[in-house]
Amino acid sequence: MMKLNVNGASHEVESDPSTPLLYVLRNDLKLNAAKFGCGLGQCGACTVMVDGVATFSCLTPIMLLEGRQIKTVEGLGTIDNPGPMQEAFIEEQSAQCGYCIAGMMMRAQALLEAKPDATDSDIRTALEPNLCRCGTHMRILRSVQRARELMKSASATPVSAG
Ligand code: FES
Ligand code: FES
Repeated sequence: MMKLNVNGASHEVESDPSTPLLYVLRNDLKLNAAKFGCGLGQCGACTVMVDGVATFSCLTPIMLLEGRQIKTVEGLGTIDNPGPMQEAFIEEQSAQCGYCIAGMMMRAQALLEAKPDATDSDIRTALEPNLCRCGTHMRILRSVQRARELMKSASATPVSAG
């Protein structure tokens, strides 16, 4: 029995400690945003955040994750109350098949949490490990640029009217 913290909630998991996180997320916790693409760390479809760092969940056994903070797209917001990253991807209509999108969002979220003023070049470089077979790269880039602005305005301190 292992305890995993996912999206701020603690879960007891019975799976073998060598099981990749991706399978536990999808099969045990029914968090299906992260996708299986290659299983080899070569496509990024399975990307989640672990302690704020973009991580291939297909390559990460759960034995490494006790006490760490795991975040998936489901932790970024809800259908009724999407977070800035989700809102930006919806507004730019970035998804075609959508298979790559959850991984793209999590890698971009990790970048913007670590570097709120990331340049367009930083975004391109950060997203390099994630592939999109549908070729919506330009919309994905626009989405992350939009998310950057939304996250900045969300974190701006309101000025008191005095
Ligand atoms: S499924 Fe993990 S990198 Fe492709
Ligand atoms: S939208 Fe289809 S793989 Fe990216």
